[in-house]
Amino acid sequence: MSVRRIILDTDVAMGAPGSDIDDGFAMALAVDLKDQSLELVTTVNGNIDVDTSTVLALHLLDRLGKPDIPVVCGARTPLVRPLHAHPARDRVADVREHLSGRKPTPGRAATAIIDHVLANPGEISIVAIGPLTNVAVALALEPALATAVKEIVIMGGAFLRTTSVLAMPGEFNIWVDPEAAAIVLNSGAPLRFIGLDVTLQVELNRADADRLMATGRPFASYAGECAHAWIDYLREAYPGRDFCTAPMHDALAVAVVSRPNLVTWRPARVEVEVTSDLTRGVTVADLLASRDPPQANCMVATEVDSVAFIEFFLNHIYSL
Ligand code: RIB
Ligand code: CA
Repeated sequence: MSVRRIILDTDVAMGAPGSDIDDGFAMALAVDLKDQSLELVTTVNGNIDVDTSTVLALHLLDRLGKPDIPVVCGARTPLVRPLHAHPARDRVADVREHLSGRKPTPGRAATAIIDHVLANPGEISIVAIGPLTNVAVALALEPALATAVKEIVIMGGAFLRTTSVLAMPGEFNIWVDPEAAAIVLNSGAPLRFIGLDVTLQVELNRADADRLMATGRPFASYAGECAHAWIDYLREAYPGRDFCTAPMHDALAVAVVSRPNLVTWRPARVEVEVTSDLTRGVTVADLLASRDPPQANCMVATEVDSVAFIEFFLNHIYSL
């Protein structure tokens, strides 16, 4: 079995009540998969501020029994856009206070990514599950990264649909830093995108959360509590959508690194909107069906075997 060596670039917020939980599940899956080797975690502003995300990443790796995996802090703000409000910002102070422990590895995410990839040309895959600020900075600092990296697998974008939310017309990771997404899309690096088209079909429900809590396991039971809290938050924040599940956006992106057949891939030319606020972060995907198609710059996932994924995913998480 070949082992995929990965860097996880994340805006992990699991543990900050009212913040998205899927990064935490993605990190746990990456740690547990025997055909993946998680070698570096870098944090980025997104679901939560980067300092809190860094503390939470260290805490979750300790809970997962992986205190040896280095965590390096990254971008505090998007490249150009103003810092957006974090829904749980007012409740994370005590999280940071209660979780003080292992410190992050000195340095900054972009240079840590460059150093690790260039030291292992063709070997390392970057799995980007937050806004693409760190990845863009790394590519701008060292363009050779685009050819030295094995591939960049990105949870981001929506290619066959829109968000149907005027306040956030682009998928969150792209919307937060659309300029960073444009740099990555134009870098020439091998890119695979897992967008909302497939991630909104892979969901954790409250019964799954109950089963996770019932395990009494260090990570699984904590993750079950966080899943309930996140679903509660979604119901409060979006009363018109009757949420009763939590999409596992980022966990699917991790899974397809070594299990690409969980989804259907199509080559595409993708561009991102960076000029208009009305369509900020919208990803336009040309699926090359015309007589004279543009040149592809990535692969996008268009369908997912959601039953197979959820079964595979939970079977790993229950034991953690
Ligand atoms: O749109 C989903 C993405 O935004 C996920 O990465 C989730 O963690 C949030 O960051
Ligand atoms: Ca994320």
